[in-house]
Amino acid sequence: MLIKTNTGLRSSEVTDEVIFQERRDSLRLIGGIMALGVAGVAKGGTVDQAASMARQDALAASNERLTREQDIAHYNNYYEFSFYKAPPSELAQAMQVEPWVLEVGGLVENPLTLSIDDLLRLFPPEEQIRRIRCVEGWSGVVPWLGFPLFHLLKKASPLSFGKFVKFTSVMQPETMPNQRDQKMLPWPYVEGLRLDEAMHPLAMLAVGMYGKKLLNQNGAPIRLVIPWKYGFKSIKAIVKIEVTDSLPLTSWNQVAPKDYGFYANVNPEVPHPRWSQATERPLGSAFYSPRRKTELFNGYAEEVAHLYAGMDLRQLF
Ligand code: MTE
Repeated sequence: MLIKTNTGLRSSEVTDEVIFQERRDSLRLIGGIMALGVAGVAKGGTVDQAASMARQDALAASNERLTREQDIAHYNNYYEFSFYKAPPSELAQAMQVEPWVLEVGGLVENPLTLSIDDLLRLFPPEEQIRRIRCVEGWSGVVPWLGFPLFHLLKKASPLSFGKFVKFTSVMQPETMPNQRDQKMLPWPYVEGLRLDEAMHPLAMLAVGMYGKKLLNQNGAPIRLVIPWKYGFKSIKAIVKIEVTDSLPLTSWNQVAPKDYGFYANVNPEVPHPRWSQATERPLGSAFYSPRRKTELFNGYAEEVAHLYAGMDLRQLF
């Protein structure tokens, strides 16, 4: 189940031209992600187009709109570049995303050093439509191109005493102004998951969106997408993935532990200390239009609630 059907949006919205335009564009552009330089993958057409169509239909049936690409591409949280939303789309163009090396290590039997081409060859990306919900109260519905994180972790083979996974973003102070000038966040940006969360099929590594390569401002060349958690867990521009035996010290949790918990599961009943999390504003919607009700685990409770059985979600927010 990729998109929930009980969203409460009006059915008139399902015929939104954007959805059908996006569908057509997606299918046409699916080849684009394969043009990342992987000839073998390109030939095979490994993005399953039928599955992609089915997902688009599920979206239409769910009465939810895809967020417009231009909205998700120009309203970004990317603190290495700016603490404002608009500048990253421009500033991130200076980033160096080729060549790129992703290291997978720590408590694993089989450490890996992979280029993006290696990753695409090993794990052909598929289109997955997922909700994103930022801790600040805005949200989106994005057609990502990616593969389940567990495929990569299984290949690295975590050791039995590995309990967590730590993710580290790139250090590129020559292109990222805040890494030079701002100490508000410790650099590099770091995130983490419990190993069982990381092995969940909904935890994805994305290399593209809207049928194309990821834009720099959205996390190129590879980012995490954890749809049931607040957006700050979905770390961009990943260079290192490590299996650890202790809880990783993550950026936001380190600087403001009372505001940003390690788990950061979307939960309308647990307010941020300074604002409610009960509702959200879909990106691109008018400021005067009604806000959408936020759902527990961002609508993915059926899939992920078991990961937190017996946990006090207020305490471990
Ligand atoms: N990853 C890095 N490296 N740096 C960041 O500042 N911001 C996070 C997350 N990943 C961030 C990051 C936050 S707060 C959000 S809401 C999402 O990225 C936003 O992703 P988007 O800009 O693609 O919508």
